[in-house]
Amino acid sequence: MNDTFLKACRGEKTDYTPIWMMRQAGRYLPEYQKVRGNVSFLELCKTPELCVEVTLQPVDLLDMDAAILFSDILIPIEAMGARLEFHEGQGPLLPDKIKTDAAIDRLIVPDPDATMPFVMETIRQLRRELKVPLIGFAGAPFTCATYIIEGGSSKTFWETKKLMYTQPEVFHHLMDKITRTILLYLEAQAKAGAQALQLFDTWAGILAPCDFERFALPYVREIIIGLRQTGLPIIYFANNGATLLDLSVSSGADVIGLDWRINIGEAVRRVGRKAVQGNLDPFALLLPKDELRQRIQGILDGAKEAFGHIFNLGHGIHQFTPPQQARIAVDAVHELSRRR
Ligand code: CP3
Repeated sequence: MNDTFLKACRGEKTDYTPIWMMRQAGRYLPEYQKVRGNVSFLELCKTPELCVEVTLQPVDLLDMDAAILFSDILIPIEAMGARLEFHEGQGPLLPDKIKTDAAIDRLIVPDPDATMPFVMETIRQLRRELKVPLIGFAGAPFTCATYIIEGGSSKTFWETKKLMYTQPEVFHHLMDKITRTILLYLEAQAKAGAQALQLFDTWAGILAPCDFERFALPYVREIIIGLRQTGLPIIYFANNGATLLDLSVSSGADVIGLDWRINIGEAVRRVGRKAVQGNLDPFALLLPKDELRQRIQGILDGAKEAFGHIFNLGHGIHQFTPPQQARIAVDAVHELSRRR
């Protein structure tokens, strides 16, 4: 069993810096494309045998030090009763665009084992096969809320901010329901065998710090406090979150995920006695090998005083990244961090 990743989360000494990549299972891998060729994305998410297969692909092919459950942050949103569709070549579509008290009342706080048994079954099967730790995950409440309100991805987040600023009590009503859903969902993942839990706050960075503090952070804290009894390390990743770093640290998470827009050395100083995860620009994987290795060396050097460091990209790997470049990065992290 390779538990380097879990040790780094807890701030224990490791022989080398562990690495995994956000969205490491996905379209950049021809092996994933092959599985996806036969099923839709949602069917894939709901078929444990296939989820297991694609979760294992990057671990086996690229030598990652952790696996991340194959699923999507929108799966529990669908379980709440919001319609969810994926159309080829487009992002997610949630056609209900829920933003009134009446519509929020119709959403349920689902029993995760009853409504998402495929997720728990995937976790149980993976634990029998994996020799590296398994990360479970969910979207953070604010990011989930943006998809529910906007009906998909957005450029301006007009509807979300309109609801926040003009009907804050309705916004909080929605956030409260999402928060209860995500807490139960992550507790169920822990019970099924997940060994660490990551909250993805992809859209936190669109908020002013004062709004993040009022509309997003209290719900993240509530989930993290609720998850304490699982004993699992909790990773909080606020994308585009450099300006929210001090607030993110106060979330209570054990590991702070960093995007690439911040110097990791500076982040380490501000984070203090918590592990950090990050933070290579995903597009830097396109650099020629020597330059990529230099970039990686720079990040390892910047994080050398960290309480713990898990190497990762600053956001998900891009779908057109050559897998060979990801492999070069993994090998470089292992080799360069061992040398010290
Ligand atoms: O990291 C992993 O390897 C595990 C699987 C995973 C997926 N989505 C699979 C996926 C994880 C952790 C996610 C999280 C997720 N989903 C986030 C947060 C992380 C981030 O990137 O900020 C968000 C915002 C979503 C919502 C979502 N799902 C979007 C916006 C899209 C479309 C964009 C895209 O990349 O195509 C998806 C679809 C999706 N989720 C795919 C995969 C592999 C592509 C689907 C396909 O095969 O066509």
